[in-house]
Amino acid sequence: MIDLQARIPNNVDLADDKRLQRALEQWQPRFLDWWREMGPEGLQQSEVYLRTAVSVEPGGWAHYDYVRMPEYRWGIFLAPAEGERRIGFGDHAAEPAWQEVPGEQRGALRRLIVTQGDTEPASVEQQRRLGAIAPSLYDLRNLLQVNVEEARHLWAMVYLLFRHFGRDGREEAEELLARRSNAQDHPRILGAFNRPIESWLDFFCFAMFTDRDGKYQLASLAESGFDPLARTCRFMLTEEAHHLFVGETGIRRVIARTAELMREDPNEDPRARGGIDLGLLQRYVNFWFTESLDLFGSPDSTNAATYFSEGLKGRMNEGKAGTYDDHALLEGGVAIEEPASRGGVTTREVPKRRALNAMLVDGYIRECQKAVDKWNATLERGGVRAEITLPSPRFHRQVGPFAGQHFLPDGTLADDPAAVAAHLPSEADRAYVRELQDAPVFQRGRYANWIAPATSPIDRKPLDFEYVRFR
Ligand SMILES: [Fe+2]
Ligand SMILES: [Fe+2]
Repeated sequence: MIDLQARIPNNVDLADDKRLQRALEQWQPRFLDWWREMGPEGLQQSEVYLRTAVSVEPGGWAHYDYVRMPEYRWGIFLAPAEGERRIGFGDHAAEPAWQEVPGEQRGALRRLIVTQGDTEPASVEQQRRLGAIAPSLYDLRNLLQVNVEEARHLWAMVYLLFRHFGRDGREEAEELLARRSNAQDHPRILGAFNRPIESWLDFFCFAMFTDRDGKYQLASLAESGFDPLARTCRFMLTEEAHHLFVGETGIRRVIARTAELMREDPNEDPRARGGIDLGLLQRYVNFWFTESLDLFGSPDSTNAATYFSEGLKGRMNEGKAGTYDDHALLEGGVAIEEPASRGGVTTREVPKRRALNAMLVDGYIRECQKAVDKWNATLERGGVRAEITLPSPRFHRQVGPFAGQHFLPDGTLADDPAAVAAHLPSEADRAYVRELQDAPVFQRGRYANWIAPATSPIDRKPLDFEYVRFR
């Protein structure tokens, strides 16, 4: 069990390292300043029914209760050590995992940790205004749960910086509180984390697609030869599963409601009944799916090759028995798609280590497709003969060989950029969603008109539970 009364709850024996403890205790008030300034707006005094990590063991790791968010027990939790863990891949395979940062890998590891760490506060900033237009108390609670956990993930990364990177680490930790999502002069590091999340449709798509990229990155880092990073990421994945649930079921409920409204309307027009039409939803999916693909980096990447060779970042489930035979990846290649002349597409063979981003993204797309299949099953059950589809990875890219090219969601060449833009949310779409989502629904058990009621209880509470008490 974790001592939640400690000033910084942790399972890393912080009390035994006074210098580190003092340094983190100095960072803590600055973190809280950031949270009050950039965290969920107007809700800091409210009591929210949140889960808090109380243990890192797989069963019963969380405790639910009403908490005022500034009093949330943010802490430092690493998954338990696995005895004599060994590095599972790359040039250092079979050597004992590192408990301290190896000198040569310092720069690369710091970059990996800072890049991951930066996404955590960024998403809190992006989502800070959504509480005021929440479609239900249930959804509001889920949003705030995601927010406090992303802030805890920031703690997880900051701990590694303070503990293992000395002065540079402390400076990076300050920077993590100084950058701001979508700021002109000091933005967050990665593209998708600077895009505005102004509606609940954006939020659900973000939790479905962008958080899922996070899952794949964390799962790769959970294989790291740097053991403290691996253990940190393993525990973060436990929390992350809920974020993906929020996104996937959020969109599913939008779709279920759309199908219902289409059945009720003589012209099968959900907009006429105050709902969200499938064309608009498809454009949001197109946008957030491709923004999230960009987060994986280029499919042919020397950085990815270095991270693998050096034992810093493996493949998903690299260490799980039976998943892979080859942990060296020195032979063979992977075919990567590239644009060719006259709007054609060609493939080029890339050595496996350089193609790790491409391999990771393949698994990601398959997982996204499974969720989309469930959405389409909801449509079918609702009597609607239409489908949501994932756009081609050639469409709307800013990273990789298709960056700056103009391909359509079906993978064919577009005539001009306007033809591409027609498949992304327009200003009119955004205005419509803003109009639809301009007021919150805070009565217990009630939902906004554009979304179906929740069906999965939180902590086995009834669905009309008072998930948030406003103060
Ligand atoms: Fe996170
Ligand atoms: Fe997340």
